[in-house]
Parts: sequence; structure tokens; C-alpha cells
Amino acid sequence: MKNLIFATNNEYKVSEATGILGRKFKVLSLADMNFSEELLEDAETLEGNALLKAAYIYDQFGLDCFADDTGLEVDALNGAPGVYSARYAGKSCDAEKNMQKLLNEMQKQTNRKACFRTVIVLIKNGKTHHFEGKIDGEIGTKPSGNQGFGYDPVFIPNGFNKSFAGLSPHQKNRISHRAIALKKMAGFLR
Ligand code: IMP
Repeated sequence: MKNLIFATNNEYKVSEATGILGRKFKVLSLADMNFSEELLEDAETLEGNALLKAAYIYDQFGLDCFADDTGLEVDALNGAPGVYSARYAGKSCDAEKNMQKLLNEMQKQTNRKACFRTVIVLIKNGKTHHFEGKIDGEIGTKPSGNQGFGYDPVFIPNGFNKSFAGLSPHQKNRISHRAIALKKMAGFLR
């Protein structure tokens, strides 16, 4: 089994990646590498942020690694919060405050279309590769479900009548934006 570092501290994402890459690769989180620094994510694009994180970790360890960055893009808000999804409600924000701000902004909107978009940057043998995944859906009128993380309680994927947070991790990980990007990377690595 080959080691592949996932430049994240989000254990949820690590288990999602392990489920997809697990047979051939041992996915190592930053905690597995005893790395506890906060990674800088201040670029203007998802691609830029994923590259910042992957390049920083590649410089630290010199081992093959990848990083992801995700944005929730809402049609009625001209693509916001997008690359600012993690810091939507300002400096001391958390998932709860971000979701609340989004629901407030969407209060009078009838067009509730949105998508999650993930960009993964893989650095393998010093070369950079990009993979993208996207899932379309709608913003609910209130949070529902208690699985997942981030904006999951307010995102209803097309073809489902439940939010991401109402699906089991197994169901979400079969269809999610990140799963689509991870599967593309897995295909490339194979
Ligand atoms: P990051 O890519 O982990 O930095 O995520 C950017 C923002 O999108 C954060 O606010 C995350 O909570 C949110 N986010 C990322 N992936 C997901 C997901 O799968 N579901 C819900 N929110 C997500």
C-alpha cells in the first residue's frame, strides 16, 4: 500500500477519501503526520486554495499529497458564498453562523438552485494535477438532518427529498462533490 497525505484536519473528509482510495492507498491525515499548524487558505479561487495547501504540505514532507477546497455556489447570490464559504459569516464564524447567514440572504429568494464544487490538487512526484467534482441541488428553507458537517443541513441534492445531513455518510459519499473529484483522482492514480 502506498502512502498518500491528505492535507486536511477534517476526519470526516479523511474517512470519505479512505472509502474511495482505501484499497491501494493508505490515506494519512495531517494528524497522522503529527502536523498541527493551521493551513493558509486565502486565495481567490478554489484551485488557488487547494494548491496553497497541497504545496505547503509537499514542501514540508516531500511526499505525494493532495488537498481539496470546496465552495457552495448559490445561483440567486451570484455564486456566493463560493470560495468564501468557510468564512461567510465573518471572522469568528462557525458552520451554524454561516448557515444562518445563508438562510437570511435566501429568505425572499424563489430561485434556490445551488451547487457544491470541489477542486482537488494532487502533487505526485513534484507534478501538480487538478480534479473537479460538482453536485447540483437546492438550498432548503430551514436546516434538517444531523449527519455530515458544514452546510449539509441546508443543501438538498437534486433527486433527493432530504438534505445532505439527512443522508447516511455512505449515501452522501456515493454522490458528493468531493467523492466525484476523489473518484477522478483515483482513476488517474490507477
Ligand atoms: P473546505 O474546503 O473544507 O475549506 O470547506 C469550505 C467550506 O465549505 C466550509 O465552510 C465547509 O464547512 C464547507 N464544506 C466543505 N465540504 C462540505 C460538505 O461536504 N458539506 C457541507 N459543507 C461543506
